[in-house]
Amino acid sequence: MSRKTYYITTPIYYPSGKLHIGHSYTTVAADAMARYKRLQGYDVMFLTGTDEHGQKIQRVAAENGMTPKQYVDRIVSGIKDLWQMMKISYDKFIRTTDEEHAACVQKVFKALYDKGDIYISEYEGWYCTPCESFWTETQLVDGMCPDCGRGVEKTREESYFFRLSKYQDRLIKHIEENPDFIQPVSRRNEMLNNFLRPGLEDLCVSRTSFDWGIPVSFDEKHVVYVWIDALSNYISALGYLTGNDEAFRRYWPADVHLVGKEIIRFHTIIWPAMLMALDLPLPRQVFGHGWLVLEGGKMSKSKGNVVDPVILIEKYGLDAIRYFLLREVPFGADGVFSNEALISRINSDLANDLGNLVSRTVAMIRKYFDGLLPGQGEEGEFDAELKKELLGLKHRTEELLDNLQFSLALTEIWKAISRTNKYIDETVPWILAKDESKKGRLARVLYNLAESIRIVSILLQPFMPETPAKIWDQLSIDSDETGWETAGVWGVYKPTRPVRQGEIIFPRIDIEKELEKLSSAVPDTGKDGPGEKGDKKHRSRDAEGSASGDMTQISIEDFAKLDLRVAKVLSAEKVEKSDKLLKLRLQVGAEEKQVVSGIAQYYSAEELAGKTLILVANLKPAKIRGIESQGMILAATDESEGKLTLVTVDGDISPGAKVS
Ligand code: MSP
Repeated sequence: MSRKTYYITTPIYYPSGKLHIGHSYTTVAADAMARYKRLQGYDVMFLTGTDEHGQKIQRVAAENGMTPKQYVDRIVSGIKDLWQMMKISYDKFIRTTDEEHAACVQKVFKALYDKGDIYISEYEGWYCTPCESFWTETQLVDGMCPDCGRGVEKTREESYFFRLSKYQDRLIKHIEENPDFIQPVSRRNEMLNNFLRPGLEDLCVSRTSFDWGIPVSFDEKHVVYVWIDALSNYISALGYLTGNDEAFRRYWPADVHLVGKEIIRFHTIIWPAMLMALDLPLPRQVFGHGWLVLEGGKMSKSKGNVVDPVILIEKYGLDAIRYFLLREVPFGADGVFSNEALISRINSDLANDLGNLVSRTVAMIRKYFDGLLPGQGEEGEFDAELKKELLGLKHRTEELLDNLQFSLALTEIWKAISRTNKYIDETVPWILAKDESKKGRLARVLYNLAESIRIVSILLQPFMPETPAKIWDQLSIDSDETGWETAGVWGVYKPTRPVRQGEIIFPRIDIEKELEKLSSAVPDTGKDGPGEKGDKKHRSRDAEGSASGDMTQISIEDFAKLDLRVAKVLSAEKVEKSDKLLKLRLQVGAEEKQVVSGIAQYYSAEELAGKTLILVANLKPAKIRGIESQGMILAATDESEGKLTLVTVDGDISPGAKVS
């Protein structure tokens, strides 16, 4: 029986400059899916490529003294290098300048013309060159392009048109009858309500004012313009309408087109209408993900180091970057990329949770059993619960990945990692090790840790192409113990070879020093590159999404002026004749400090004793109701709900420890 197929695509990228980390978002997500489906045994076709035609490229190439082909060749090789560095496991890279693609587009155009779905007419309107879009007078916003807000040029020329309007009703019906076709649901409603129901206009699909494109075979003064060229890549890559269309018959219709939200309209309206006109089945799903923006604004290559994927990978490693992209933001929503968030994720999730689990387990097997476990040992308390959590993990991860919920799938995996770390605290192997009669139990505890790590590492493969193999090497996990299906089985690990302590898989980063180094990023020049267009609505939404809001930004030097310390409450008492004030005596390292704080309405003096808080230790002392206050303790307040809660630390740490 032949294997089930899975066809996934990314958009084809504009080759007009270096890509930033936001660009890699779609491709990393598609790669995770492709890897996952391959691991499950599917016959996968993962397509990506470049969208190389158009007036803008022709102009930029001329400005650089090159032919358009010379210009795109140079940039496309840079894009391919980046994908190689990011271990993007595409099966085919299509370029719209490929001969086979051009031949297919010409045939598609002719087929639609013969059918009467493409006709000649005249276009008069406004043209936005960066967006390669025509607009009518009424569509302009303050005389500017409604997509990008830039200037437009008046144009009048003979053009071919695609009868998009003819497919409106069939499209609405298809979208209504297939709730999974457009995901997430919010984008589906947006397409129906904002574009389809108000009515579609026919679409201009050829140009005569430039020639960097695919000529219309029966009318060579026209070149096929943007969407019929670009969108056809999904079928031309499979050999559609060529002598060899075996791949097309095998993989079409696509299982999912992954695209950014700004191009979802083209993929859920124009593309399906083209397919309907060609009598081809529609893709099963178009998933429109959100945008990754920088705090305070959209991402742009001119932001320098901060968003340069090559620099980020060289600094922090590929798996850390891929993990951050897939974990930080729920897939579908907009998210903020910041170096600080990236480093915190690396330190807490990767270095602490996962990295420590592996290194502690290997270290204990080495210390207590000279690196080689004597079989599975004796069962005991806590084993069943750990086993249950880990055994359900594969199923939970698969369910979420099948819905492209990368972040939630990783959250599940991290819950299992935390459960495993908790198992160490529960079973306290170092105490078992002190008693010779508990050796069998100790062996079992360490076996269970290794087995949990084996399961987790198998499930991490779609997200991280490098780390699982490093873990297997350290724990001497054999290749026959790492099959995808074995992640759902307990007791597969055979400790027959000694474990070895390798290098630390995710070293901790000194966040303060690192942020200081990174703050030397090049300032934004405001220049736009490809992939940064988007309609005004998206832009303002992105700006609203910024965590910094309207607050003045501070530099890392400003922040470093604060001396924040962990402080333990020794005692607390009410300040006489005040409803609001409490006087606290705090232990801060070897010192004791006295602080007056307005928290009496939220905390009683009794419940504060023993709490570990955060103190601004270098605040100038002040007298409050005649009592000296030597600093300020931090609290979070929600004024709308009248709530206040003190900021405290997660875990045991000595008073006086610096907070940064
Ligand atoms: N050439 C068109 C697509 C044609 S598909 C038939 C195009 N190219 S692009 O280079 O501008 O964008 C490629 C992909 O990168 C898109 O999915 C886009 O959404 C994504 N991203 C570019 N910048 C992005 C962020 N800052 N964040 C997330 N993804 C973004 O559009």
